[in-house]
Amino acid sequence: MERPNVLLALPDGQLAAAETALRRAGFEPVRLDESGPHVDLAAIDCDEQPEVAQQLHASLHDGRSVPTILIFGAEPPDYGTQGDEYAMKPCPPEALIYRLQAMLIRSGRALPGDAAGMGAEMSDTPMMGEGRVISVFAPKGGVGKTTVAVNMAVALREQTRDRVLLFDADVGVGNVTAVLEVPAKKGLIDLADSPPSEWTDLAFEHITAVHPDTGVRVLTWGSDPADSEKVTVDLLLAALRWGKANHAYVVVDNHPGYDDRTMAMLTLATEIFLVVTPEVGAIRNSAQFLALAREVGLGEIVRVVVNRANHGISVENMSQSLGLPIAATIVSNGPKAVMAANEGQPVIRKFPKEKIAQDLHNVARLVTQPPLPKEERETRRWWMRLGARASNA
Ligand SMILES: Nc1ncnc2c1ncn2[C@@H]1O[C@H](COP(=O)(O)OP(=O)(O)O)[C@@H](O)[C@H]1O
Ligand SMILES: [Mg+2]
Repeated sequence: MERPNVLLALPDGQLAAAETALRRAGFEPVRLDESGPHVDLAAIDCDEQPEVAQQLHASLHDGRSVPTILIFGAEPPDYGTQGDEYAMKPCPPEALIYRLQAMLIRSGRALPGDAAGMGAEMSDTPMMGEGRVISVFAPKGGVGKTTVAVNMAVALREQTRDRVLLFDADVGVGNVTAVLEVPAKKGLIDLADSPPSEWTDLAFEHITAVHPDTGVRVLTWGSDPADSEKVTVDLLLAALRWGKANHAYVVVDNHPGYDDRTMAMLTLATEIFLVVTPEVGAIRNSAQFLALAREVGLGEIVRVVVNRANHGISVENMSQSLGLPIAATIVSNGPKAVMAANEGQPVIRKFPKEKIAQDLHNVARLVTQPPLPKEERETRRWWMRLGARASNA
């Protein structure tokens, strides 16, 4: 199987570590002085020798368009084009890999190790669909991730009537079908023994169930924790790519933690909803996650949702501790949450008039009717200016 070639123009001190990490992740690093080989992707440090970096970028976009990660310290370069990505320093090797994987997927290419789209089919591989990926995450379990994900999926469906996929990616643990009862009992695990060439659209359709009352489509990793190791990063990403291509919204219930599978899923999110409860421990974990998210270039897409917001630490204090506005709050309503779950019904359908249901609908409205923050109305953020420049280029 072909490994994607990645041209690395990085400072000498960082090159060796990046090369090792890239090889381990299935990429083939290419150095600047190795003339000749075909280049699939590139990562350029824009600060070391700015003129050289710009020339290199131009040569990668002269008669071809090599998706490039532009790594910068203070000021982003102004020569980026569409298909390029920006990464702020520091950009450690793991962050570089997640960004490269995301670029491959966004450009409709297969990931290393994902033979489904490689070889003869490569040039015919369709572009990835435009569905939005709403990832629900928390560093620790028990804070309400599944509750938010399930109700978000149902609310998006009710608000838009579009196709919605609820994707249980809490591998080994999660069981969204305990909260949202669906007839079929298949999952990604049933594809784990097949070669990637058999991970077709039809195969994913076969393991997807439909919640009869709402029409929300449900894809789970499986249900037997004993087999859960067989659900690989490649399989999850192939499923996500299919989900994105065939649904307007994919709502992902993630595993709580920083394992490779979860990080890969988060990398492809359009929005990350970080669920936090008003407790010191949960806030501390969430602050750590926010720092990591910023490090790997995902900081801009994180929104904080406070669950059980009417207890414990105040929303204002939480916002201060996290250094971010709170996008939405959900009240605690234990009895109603449990009664709904016992019937395999989402709480927003079972008790639509309760405050908890209205709060959960408002979380989904952040996706369907995003509010325009004040500072954005006044001055457009730097990356929006960048985007406009890039699309004019
Ligand atoms: N706002 C809430 N009010 C009352 N109970 C809640 C609320 N959110 C979640 N729960 C309950 O808390 C438990 C854990 O929630 P869950 O969504 O499964 O968390 P996670 O997926 O993060 O582990 C469940 O029993 C759920 O019904
Ligand atoms: Mg859960």
